[in-house]
Amino acid sequence: MDVERVNAAIIYYSATGTVHALASAAAEGAEKAGAQVRLRRVAELAPAEVIKGNPAWEQHLQDTADVAVAGLDDLEWADVVLFGTPTRFGNPASPLRAFIEATGGLWGEGKLADKVYSAFTASNTAHGGQESTLLALGNTFYHWGGIIVPPGYTDPIQFTSGNPYGTSHVSGGGAPDAVALEAARFQARRAVDTAALLKAGRAA
Ligand SMILES: Cc1cc2nc3c(=O)[nH]c(=O)nc-3n(C[C@H](O)[C@H](O)[C@H](O)COP(=O)(O)O)c2cc1C
Repeated sequence: MDVERVNAAIIYYSATGTVHALASAAAEGAEKAGAQVRLRRVAELAPAEVIKGNPAWEQHLQDTADVAVAGLDDLEWADVVLFGTPTRFGNPASPLRAFIEATGGLWGEGKLADKVYSAFTASNTAHGGQESTLLALGNTFYHWGGIIVPPGYTDPIQFTSGNPYGTSHVSGGGAPDAVALEAARFQARRAVDTAALLKAGRAA
């Protein structure tokens, strides 16, 4: 059976680069799994003077100026969407929420249903709210009628990285290490593989 390639959108927010690194690894994993990939950052909402007060934030914004900003067309295009966000007081960051809250039209037309969704995050501390952040994003996937594909413990890397809800990095210890990056690649691969099965099944 000749089935079209899976379209994978990696849509993330990152202020200081941690989640961007995970998103880039997820994009690699999705590509390696055979998907066509769009890596997209959501629009920054913080005022320029606030960003200026944090050199790492300002630098990261400059460094990723060439990453395309996510649009609703990216969601419509995708068979599988991986969302990435830092934990902010135990929840997804507001720029990602703002993007999600602009999807009412697509949702109303049923265009967000039946896609594969998965999510990844980073927090400063180990118990700083990674799981609550991922579960909060999951609430939206339920509303959309999405097919949630978490990594679980379905690959050896998961027993090292340790979060079955979605790739999660503790940034207090530094930038994402080889384990976190491999977990992100694996998570994307699993989501793409699932979307490919669904696509083939629907085409048959
Ligand atoms: C407003 C704000 C709230 C945050 N809340 C939490 C939190 O609840 N728990 C935690 O461990 N880290 C928290 N952090 C830290 C970030 O989640 C963490 O530094 C993350 O790795 C940043 O990702 P980024 O580099 O992609 O922006 C918070 C950071 C900010 C700016």
